[in-house]
Amino acid sequence: MTASFADGLPKAELHVHLEGTLEPGDLIRFARRNAIPIPWRDEHELRAAYSFTGLENFLAVYFEGCKVLRRREDFHELTTAYLGRAAAQGVRRAEMFFGPQNFLDAGVPLDDQLGGIFDAIAEAREAWGIDGALLISAHRHRSEADALELLDLVRPWREQILGAGLGSAERGNPPSKFARYFTAARAQGYRTTCHAGEEGPAAYLREALDVCRVERIDHGFTVTDDSDLVARLADEQVPLTMCPLSNLRLGVAPDLAAYPLARLLDAGVLVTVNSDDPAYFDGYVNENYAALGLGEDRLIRLARNSFTGSFAPESDVAAALRTLGG
Ligand code: ADE
Ligand code: ZN
Repeated sequence: MTASFADGLPKAELHVHLEGTLEPGDLIRFARRNAIPIPWRDEHELRAAYSFTGLENFLAVYFEGCKVLRRREDFHELTTAYLGRAAAQGVRRAEMFFGPQNFLDAGVPLDDQLGGIFDAIAEAREAWGIDGALLISAHRHRSEADALELLDLVRPWREQILGAGLGSAERGNPPSKFARYFTAARAQGYRTTCHAGEEGPAAYLREALDVCRVERIDHGFTVTDDSDLVARLADEQVPLTMCPLSNLRLGVAPDLAAYPLARLLDAGVLVTVNSDDPAYFDGYVNENYAALGLGEDRLIRLARNSFTGSFAPESDVAAALRTLGG
């Protein structure tokens, strides 16, 4: 693809699922080396499955893909591959979601999952200077008790995990179902963020803010249905981690011409651009910036927002903003 102005900007990525960075070629390779049966014979068949009708249909494919990740090396290689690509795209800081629950069900020890990821983060910092951080993600189609159990299980890694989030099937699983999970996460010192308003209504954003008291909203696409809430997000500077290509590919946004991100930006909302599951949606973070077709001034504001909206220490945010002319 042709180079776009945003490619050259330093930026942070705040909404990417490590499992969603599993490229088709690696998925097939891991399946073979771990002898995991998958419903696709080769990369061609696999790519053909990547035409999604909605979030839940996507999640079925995504969780099938997760099954091939079994060994510490798998998590290590996955994380290294993503951080290398991200660094090459000008990403200076990546706050990455990872959901251990399925892997635990498959009998993969947490030490292998998290150990592989943290080793890769440390090596990528050395090799490329990229600042990687992990957000543990609970699955909202499971119970709140499961999410609370997850917090207990990851306690030995508390100091290495930056934050706690909530993902997976949104409809019928409102943020309020996880009020105690977020209260517990906050009490343990995690930064908090919640997927809301991807397929769910604007009321789910309100629950995430008022009931779960999270600091950041992932997606937030449906906020435009509630103009009072848009004004409130702008007033309170609540970051939205939006994902244009994901929303397009999952039918959340019918097209990108009418994508609300620029309108929200101009209304003063702290919107950011992210890739969500780049291996499944045909685009890492720069392809998401480029897909918006915005001018240089707005792209710089978005790159600035990516640091302002991050959970990085204030001094790191200030240093990054200086490189962007602030
Ligand atoms: N997990 C991975 N991708 C997701 C998405 N787009 N929405 C909710 N949960 C997810
Ligand atoms: Zn997501």
